[in-house]
Amino acid sequence: MGEGVLHGSAGERKGYTVIATVGFSPYGSRPGGSGCLPVWIKMYMRLRSLVISLYNALFARVVEKLFFHQLVTKTNNFGKSNWLGNPIWQNTFDLWIAQETIHDVKPSLIIECGTNRGGSAYFYAQLFDLMGTDGRVVSVDIEKLHELSHPRVTYLIGSSVSDEIAGQIRAMAEAATGPVLVILDSDHSEAHVAKELEIYAPMTTVGSYCLVQDGIIDELFMFRKGRPGPLPALEKYLARHPEFEIDHERCKRFLITHHPKGWLKRVQ
Ligand SMILES: C[S@@+](CC[C@H](N)C(=O)[O-])C[C@H]1O[C@@H](n2cnc3c(N)ncnc32)[C@H](O)[C@@H]1O
Repeated sequence: MGEGVLHGSAGERKGYTVIATVGFSPYGSRPGGSGCLPVWIKMYMRLRSLVISLYNALFARVVEKLFFHQLVTKTNNFGKSNWLGNPIWQNTFDLWIAQETIHDVKPSLIIECGTNRGGSAYFYAQLFDLMGTDGRVVSVDIEKLHELSHPRVTYLIGSSVSDEIAGQIRAMAEAATGPVLVILDSDHSEAHVAKELEIYAPMTTVGSYCLVQDGIIDELFMFRKGRPGPLPALEKYLARHPEFEIDHERCKRFLITHHPKGWLKRVQ
């Protein structure tokens, strides 16, 4: 799998040979470096580096966008995915990053705006089961669309920005004995996300994250009807709140994501 990978040094981390990384020399670590190589091999390696640099500069982003467009179309925007038989409306790549983040942070409480058919809250709760921690999930939606239940999950019905719901969730966040992680996945309009950020981002504990989902609405042409979406809301919020920073590595790890700039880390 490492061979032919064009981006970065992930393969090196795993110990494989990433032969196509720009400027990488398979002979570089030998005594004498590439200086003793035949001229035609040096020329070949330079030409290959040039081709890869050109590809990255001119085409890589376009290829990523085209692939993302195809993927969203083919999967009905991930609308038919299941977690252990329960519908979960998430990009699979993003779900993996969520899993890693939950393992890193080990939240006492996950606040989820946007339950839908319940699969994501169930997934987070079962990660807590697997980790053996005391984590709980509170998930809110304006309507009940599922019959799921899990001892770690509190389901609330109402608008995430209503005083009543915000008050109930704030009380749970204040009672949490460890990290609080926030996931905004309800109404993705700029106005609504801006309100949710004002209410819920401050509940994020230092070192944890507020995930603003579906900024892709503002980037992928096929979602243009949903604009303005989460991206302007989060950018305006960040401009006024230096206590949050975008964790770009989490956002960009798999190249395509529904949540560009979405992983906001609370740093102070
Ligand atoms: C994208 S879906 C959530 C998907 C879910 N998190 C999952 O991964 O399966 C968005 C949900 O937000 C809900 N929603 C819309 N406006 C809302 C509001 N004001 N408050 C709470 N939930 C809302 C919708 O009813 C819908 O079920």
